[in-house]
Amino acid sequence: MTPRAFTVAIDGPAAAGKGTIARAVAGHFGFAHLDTGLLYRAVGALTLDGADPIEAARALDPRALEDGRLRTAEVAQAASRVAVIPEVRAALLDFQRSFARRPGGAVLDGRDICTVIYPGAEAQLFVTASAEVRAERRWKELRDKGDDRTLAEVLADVRARDARDSEREAAPLRPADGAMLLDTSKMSIDEAVAAAIAHVAAKGGAPRA
Ligand code: CDP
Repeated sequence: MTPRAFTVAIDGPAAAGKGTIARAVAGHFGFAHLDTGLLYRAVGALTLDGADPIEAARALDPRALEDGRLRTAEVAQAASRVAVIPEVRAALLDFQRSFARRPGGAVLDGRDICTVIYPGAEAQLFVTASAEVRAERRWKELRDKGDDRTLAEVLADVRARDARDSEREAAPLRPADGAMLLDTSKMSIDEAVAAAIAHVAAKGGAPRA
């Protein structure tokens, strides 16, 4: 018997903790995980090397997702700039949609998973936190990687990306009607993960046998 498809869709603004929550949920249920931000980061990185964003998105090789540079602040800004281009988003759609329906369960995190990529997702979450809390988390992550950006600079970056992601015409960031709102500003990561797992289980998600 083919294992059934079950989709967990997680959206939210920059550095809200989506990635950590998505990985933990995927690990708990034995589902596959796709960090869709990496697709936009990979296209952004290629444009920093001089590529045309639409052509880069159409020809994107999944191996490009493993590039170590993708987590830098410079690439994050480039990602949010290419993410406003409708043709870039369209080129990345089919890959994300088929991933969402793969047998055995899938967790996708991004900005438009609940609203555009797979509105039929069985479990939907919108993970957020105040801009100050998100900036501080990202600042610590970057600092651990040797980046010497100040907290004020990281906060400015987060706000610029929030504005671009929410105000764009193509698939703007917003909570879907049926999504559970998870504000992690005052939560530990363990509490946030537990709340997400409880929501997925309540929606019928079950660990793979
Ligand atoms: O990890 P972080 O939240 O900082 O960013 P990310 O999820 O890696 O996404 C980087 C950028 O890609 C975002 O600022 C968005 O502009 C864009 N993105 C998007 O438009 N749609 C998605 N589904 C995922 C990311």
